[in-house]
Amino acid sequence: MKAIAVRPGKSGSVHLRDIPDPNINSIIDGRGVRVKVLKVGVDATDREINDALYGNSPPGDDYLVLGHECFGIVQEIGPNVRNVKVGDYVTATVRRPGGSIYDQIGTYDMTSEETYFERGINLLHGYLTEQFVDGENYIVRVPKGLKHLHVLMEPMSCAAKAIQQAFECQRRMKVWQPRRAFVLGAGQIGLLSTLVLKLKGLEVFTLARGLAPNLKSEIVAGLESNYVSTQQTSLVDLAKRVGKADLIVDATGSSHIAFEAMQALGHNGVLVWTSITGGIRQTEVPSDKINLEWVLGNKLLLGSVNANREHFEAGIRDLALGEVMFPGVLERILTNPVHGLDNYQEMMRLLVEDNSALKVYVNVASE
Ligand code: BGC
Ligand code: ZN
Repeated sequence: MKAIAVRPGKSGSVHLRDIPDPNINSIIDGRGVRVKVLKVGVDATDREINDALYGNSPPGDDYLVLGHECFGIVQEIGPNVRNVKVGDYVTATVRRPGGSIYDQIGTYDMTSEETYFERGINLLHGYLTEQFVDGENYIVRVPKGLKHLHVLMEPMSCAAKAIQQAFECQRRMKVWQPRRAFVLGAGQIGLLSTLVLKLKGLEVFTLARGLAPNLKSEIVAGLESNYVSTQQTSLVDLAKRVGKADLIVDATGSSHIAFEAMQALGHNGVLVWTSITGGIRQTEVPSDKINLEWVLGNKLLLGSVNANREHFEAGIRDLALGEVMFPGVLERILTNPVHGLDNYQEMMRLLVEDNSALKVYVNVASE
């Protein structure tokens, strides 16, 4: 069957290749699920793997099948599968357990090991192919009524985890009642974080470069939140105008902004970093000032990566609620479909060159 793959370590190596069909019997406990891939989303991670910034082939192979944001339909189940049936729409988690205690209790997103196993990213093949087989623990059902949001499940799981972790940490405050949140960046993670925070009842300010009106500003407004163009109002100015934030989510992909954000966080607040910055950029920050305010304000910096099954399920519930509260808004994120695996070059071109492409995804097959 066809697959879109790269040769890890070799820049610009994205190509189409033929790989063996998966077999449900490769999962020996009878809990295997075979999924026909319908759509796969791609993001900066896929671009950076093709730029050879990171990513590794599975042992024994010299290629890595890309794709970690999948949406598909169950075609076959093993005799011991209980949670999904043939014909269900599903997505799948990305990371697979290593050997740490966190891995063993299903929280592989929190592995304490340096090596992590991620489908389509590190040491495991991804979903940009025609079908895949995995254990049912990693397959998450998507309600029929959310079918039109298909590839948003995985990015949503990352946003759901980041914010859930922030709230979890803030139990240190006993009575934490966050009112104001800043979301930095209005890419998929920024917009989905805006939704999660709005559903939690916060007043959300989502910052991005572009002048309003534009698609991102319209989506933010559709989520009854406030879009701020940093061409008009800087983060620091915003904090002066509306007050510092109780919670900030950085999803800009810029380490400079991630550090700058520290100056816009209020006392007892939490700043969550979610950007994967593969480069080697360096930046200057007023470190004495930040250090002082950080200590005097009991502030917290939290890094968040990946997501486990629980976060996928929470994210799916929030998408469902979001659809009811803000009908028709979320599907506007899904801007750039690419037709078929054969068009892998167009997929990469959109990722690399087209700044207006908010979300690129491949229509792999129809049902
Ligand atoms: C993926 C995460 C993954 C992270 C680090 C992101 O693009 O969405 O699932 O953990 O990259 O590899
Ligand atoms: Zn991703």
